[in-house]
Amino acid sequence: MAQGGRVAVQGLKLLGAGALGAFLLLAHNSWPVPPLTLSGTVLITLFALVLTRFHLRHTPVTGTTPHQAEKMIWLVAFGSIGGIQLLTRGIGDHQLLGIGFLLTAPLVAQAMLASALLGPALSVFALTVVAFLLGVSGTLPVTVLAASWLAGAVGAHAVNPLKQRSDLLRAMSIQALALGLIAVCISAGAVGRDQISIVASSAGWAALAAIIATSIFWLGVAVLEKLFDIISDWSLLELCSPDHPLLRDLMLRAPGTYAHSVIVGNLAENAARAIGANPVICRAMAYFHDVGKMNRPSYFIENQVGPNIHDSMSPTVSAMTIAAHVRDGLDLAKQYKLPPIIRDGIAQHHGTTLIRYFFDRALAQSGEQGPDITIEQFFRYEGPKPQTREAAILHLADSVEAVSRSVDRGDTENLEIAVLRVIEERRADGQLDECDLTFRDLRAIHQSFMTSLSAIRHERIVYPDSDPYETPSHSSNLDLQLDRNSSEPLRTEAGASDTPRAV
Ligand SMILES: [Fe+2]
Ligand SMILES: [Fe+2]
Repeated sequence: MAQGGRVAVQGLKLLGAGALGAFLLLAHNSWPVPPLTLSGTVLITLFALVLTRFHLRHTPVTGTTPHQAEKMIWLVAFGSIGGIQLLTRGIGDHQLLGIGFLLTAPLVAQAMLASALLGPALSVFALTVVAFLLGVSGTLPVTVLAASWLAGAVGAHAVNPLKQRSDLLRAMSIQALALGLIAVCISAGAVGRDQISIVASSAGWAALAAIIATSIFWLGVAVLEKLFDIISDWSLLELCSPDHPLLRDLMLRAPGTYAHSVIVGNLAENAARAIGANPVICRAMAYFHDVGKMNRPSYFIENQVGPNIHDSMSPTVSAMTIAAHVRDGLDLAKQYKLPPIIRDGIAQHHGTTLIRYFFDRALAQSGEQGPDITIEQFFRYEGPKPQTREAAILHLADSVEAVSRSVDRGDTENLEIAVLRVIEERRADGQLDECDLTFRDLRAIHQSFMTSLSAIRHERIVYPDSDPYETPSHSSNLDLQLDRNSSEPLRTEAGASDTPRAV
């Protein structure tokens, strides 16, 4: 960006901080506020803006970009501060007693909204920053801020995860109970035992604040999802319904692929839970990751009933047809307006892995001039490699599900080795280089896969054979290194990704 552009951006940032600072002071008791108070508030607001940006750059953000998350945090904060301004004018009293408990509603709604769209960790961070700004600007007294922060933190966890609409009632009840309890504690301390009616009315107003906050949250989620092209767990779970037209089509046209996707969803969801990633995103991505296969279902082993169609095709054409299911899936996702997070799952679920089965066949058919390993590039998926922990879990769960089909049901020992080998091969091939998984995460993911597979393999549908097009090689002599119980980020050792043995 040119120097002028950068100056303009910094100017806009200063202007934004100025506007937010002035907005914070709107309900100030001594308006117009002295110039020193105004400049102090603007500077503190600017500091909060910079700190938030820094925090977002160094914190994993799922479902959207850090830039979008930053915009969303400030838009919600702006709405919350606006709500507080309206309420302080309407109530005319900043005291935290009786009707004063309504003042907690905007911050609680803000925390619930941010949590549903960005996760509880970012939500509590944003809540703290806004409460801090409201405190230093003198907009709200510390008792209101403390009650709002506590109730907001409860709200951030009450709505996460929100699995179905009925969970909203559960979240509202938790919130009302928490705020009621906070109100009893604060008001009892303020008025003493002899004024029990004030304590009771405070608890009542606090419960009403919880209901108002949940209603704002319910409306706000829909608006923000549209505005930022982001999706809540709530909407993701609705997408996973078997009534979704695309999933219904997949079930009818490629039943084997549908069954595979459901099992991958199970594996990925449990693994995500084991490492603190988002299980709902994993499940939703898994359900749609192979929808592109329904354009040519019989080219994929899990849907084949007759002779193998690839027997009459050249390895190169077979590999191209197999790889096309990623592009076809992205086209279908666009057509059915699936959210970006699902499209990322489709694009990244194979990373840039090698379609080994056809690559080996092509090498074997090389003829007199001998194997030409430079053709490897034509047998790799286009990628990109998994960019998030959720996409990486999907990538691993997909391969593990495929390889587990080739191991006999009762053979737990070989299953464990095969699963470990898949994970290690993917790591060594550099497929996990662009996400935030650590060695400790991989260990937990492996354990979770084993637990899930043991449960699933009692009842699972048995395919005719393992899927050779998506199953990694079993002949690799890679050292299994997952016993490195460290939080070290995964990075491929130099050169490892060039090894043709990788899958
Ligand atoms: Fe696939
Ligand atoms: Fe798959």
